[in-house]
Amino acid sequence: PEVLLLNGPNLGVLGRREPEIYGTDTLADIEKMVAEEVRPRGWDVVSVQRDGEGELVGAIHEHRGRTVGAIVNPGALMIAGWSLRDALASYEPPWIEVHLSNVWAREQFRHESVIAPLASGVVVGLGAFGYRLAARALLHLSADSPN
Ligand code: DQA
Repeated sequence: PEVLLLNGPNLGVLGRREPEIYGTDTLADIEKMVAEEVRPRGWDVVSVQRDGEGELVGAIHEHRGRTVGAIVNPGALMIAGWSLRDALASYEPPWIEVHLSNVWAREQFRHESVIAPLASGVVVGLGAFGYRLAARALLHLSADSPN
């Protein structure tokens, strides 16, 4: 079984991108963290980062039916990523939205997420550790064994 770790625009440069806001962990570090969390259940991680919304939509359709859950940081597509939203609407397994920064403590334009109403849950403001929590949440939500 595989978990889809999906990161949107500008998240490929994590670690170097505004580290005072997003931290110094790289996407590779985050991939390792998520893998560590789900490995005991025998799950692997397939990590996809794209800057373009269309490519993220493609990745969701490609992995639909082949993944047990997803962790999604849509980046700024949270604000108006309507086709990302529609792709996620057709993605049946549980999925968790993650934001490294506390978007509620930031600019007004970051206070709205068009995908959050569809998410199983949302983790905000806990930095890279939030991805670990999202992975734990997927384990918890997956029916096969309590966690
Ligand atoms: C982000 C928050 C978004 O508002 C921003 O556009 C990002 C990163 C976060 O992880 O904190 O690209 O999703």
